[in-house]
Amino acid sequence: FHIRGRKAERIGLRSVLTRVLPLPLLLLLLLLLLAVVPSCHGCPDKCLCFSQTVKCQNQDLDAIPHSLPSHIKSLFVTGNNIPPVDAKVFDNLPNLVRLDLSNNRIQNFSERAFPHNNTLRVLNLSRSFHNYFFTDGVLNGLLSGNLIQLTVLDLSSNDILFPPENVSASLLRLVSLNLQNSSIISILNGTLKAPSLQDLDLRDNSLRNLPATTLAELGLKPGDHMEGYHYRYEINSDPRLANLSINSDA
Ligand SMILES: *[C@@H]1O[C@H](CO)[C@@H](O)[C@H](O)[C@H]1NC(C)=O
Ligand SMILES: *[C@@H]1O[C@H](CO)[C@@H](O)[C@H](O)[C@H]1NC(C)=O
Ligand SMILES: *[C@@H]1O[C@H](CO)[C@@H](O)[C@H](O)[C@H]1NC(C)=O
Ligand SMILES: *[C@@H]1O[C@H](CO)[C@@H](O)[C@H](O)[C@H]1NC(C)=O
Ligand SMILES: *[C@@H]1O[C@H](CO)[C@@H](O)[C@H](O)[C@H]1NC(C)=O
Ligand SMILES: *[C@@H]1O[C@H](CO)[C@@H](O)[C@H](O)[C@H]1NC(C)=O
Ligand SMILES: *[C@@H]1O[C@H](CO)[C@@H](O)[C@H](O)[C@H]1NC(C)=O
Repeated sequence: FHIRGRKAERIGLRSVLTRVLPLPLLLLLLLLLLAVVPSCHGCPDKCLCFSQTVKCQNQDLDAIPHSLPSHIKSLFVTGNNIPPVDAKVFDNLPNLVRLDLSNNRIQNFSERAFPHNNTLRVLNLSRSFHNYFFTDGVLNGLLSGNLIQLTVLDLSSNDILFPPENVSASLLRLVSLNLQNSSIISILNGTLKAPSLQDLDLRDNSLRNLPATTLAELGLKPGDHMEGYHYRYEINSDPRLANLSINSDA
């Protein structure tokens, strides 16, 4: 509303409007108008946009929203029903640093979801795989996806039986990997040989055997009682592995 002019005219207009609509209803309309204005500037439906962050949470979305503001650094699309993460969905977000897709039902993750020169550092996929059957596909897409800057990966609370292979080859800068509350029964040779990994969370899994080679990969020296192939091991009872912090010089 552009209301200009002398006081008398303003009063006149207001009284005309309040005669047509009661004042509370008028205020409500004004508020609605204000609430709608930001979405005219590129904020997708069902999302909240802040200066560098967009949040689309618990909205029953079945796709990553299109037309996100291209300058954003953080995107939260959590608690929805996203089944596939398609090719190129993040191509128009060149500055994206943090992506949270936790609590979804992802079945497929395109290896071309992110632009080749993306700068993503934090990726949260906690409790976001649809179920066990889709785990390998999702992880393969993810690990083939050029996430060269990724430092934090949260894969907790998914039905993962084995930690993803080739983490070391794909995620060269990975510092923190959360695999808590998965269904991990074993760690295959070579899986955790990520060069810069410092934090590995393996709490609440079904691990029993932890081969000495795996400990060595993690920069740990097995104690005497751990030597040999057949030792049994309660992962949850070893505080070092409850929340493993490895320094490269440890
Ligand atoms: C990932 O999301 C879950 C909740 O959905 C949260 O508890 C956890 O802290 C998040 N992890 C990271 C690394 O942000
Ligand atoms: C995932 O996507 C790829 C490529 O688009 C397709 O070949 C594959 O069948 C899909 N997998 C599932 C489980 O939908
Ligand atoms: C990424 O690559 C595209 C072309 O492939 C280019 O237009 C863009 O400027 C690059 N972005 C960065 C951050 O290097
Ligand atoms: C553990 O993961 C399952 C899904 O695999 C989830 O339903 C459950 O809530 C998670 N538990 C905790 C404590 O996060
Ligand atoms: C891991 O990488 C090796 C060599 O780069 C490749 O031969 C193998 O198929 C990869 N494994 C998976 C599960 O992608
Ligand atoms: C793991 O690697 C070690 C030596 O690098 C080897 O002795 C052992 O047989 C391997 N285990 C498996 C299951 O491949
Ligand atoms: C491990 O513990 C340290 C300190 O106790 C904490 O700062 C860090 O966030 C924890 N890492 C994970 C993956 O839980």
